[in-house]
Amino acid sequence: MKNKLFGFLAAAFLIFSCSDSELVNMKELSNGAKLYKNNCANCHQEDGSGLANLIPPLYHSDYLSKNASKLPCIITQGLGGEISVNGKTYTMRMAAIQHLNKEELNDLCTYVLQKFPEQAIQPEVWKKSPADSCW
Ligand code: HEC
Repeated sequence: MKNKLFGFLAAAFLIFSCSDSELVNMKELSNGAKLYKNNCANCHQEDGSGLANLIPPLYHSDYLSKNASKLPCIITQGLGGEISVNGKTYTMRMAAIQHLNKEELNDLCTYVLQKFPEQAIQPEVWKKSPADSCW
């Protein structure tokens, strides 16, 4: 009897804690999706496919996967110079986007790195990095 009760409590705790963290995540993701639409999609497109030879794709971008920890910096400082994304060269400059607060930047990075890389990149990878200086 005691065991059953413990099992029930443990299961209830698991269910509650899972749905709790999922809720936070869902909120970050839907907020991030809105921010992406308003700040990035006009160039990178809503599906992340980029624009011809001018704007590199985010969808399955090898550059983004390799530089995930720099994403907050790429957004707040912009990016210039020649870069290679999925075997193609891009040279146009991306202007810095500086009006986002820390929470917005967090939600935006969460969304971009869950949605576009071939394998979703978890926040641990990019949150506690030297790029923290860009938050
Ligand atoms: C005005 C157009 C424009 C907007 C808006 C813009 N970008 Fe970019 N982005 C570019 C260009 C152009 C490059 C290529 C820069 C280079 O060649 O050095 C780039 C490069 C990148 C890269 C690295 C290359 C890749 O494709 O993986 C990332 C990541 C990125 N942008 C993310 C974002 C995010 C996130 C936003 C929204 C917060 C955003 N960009 C908004 C034009 C834009």
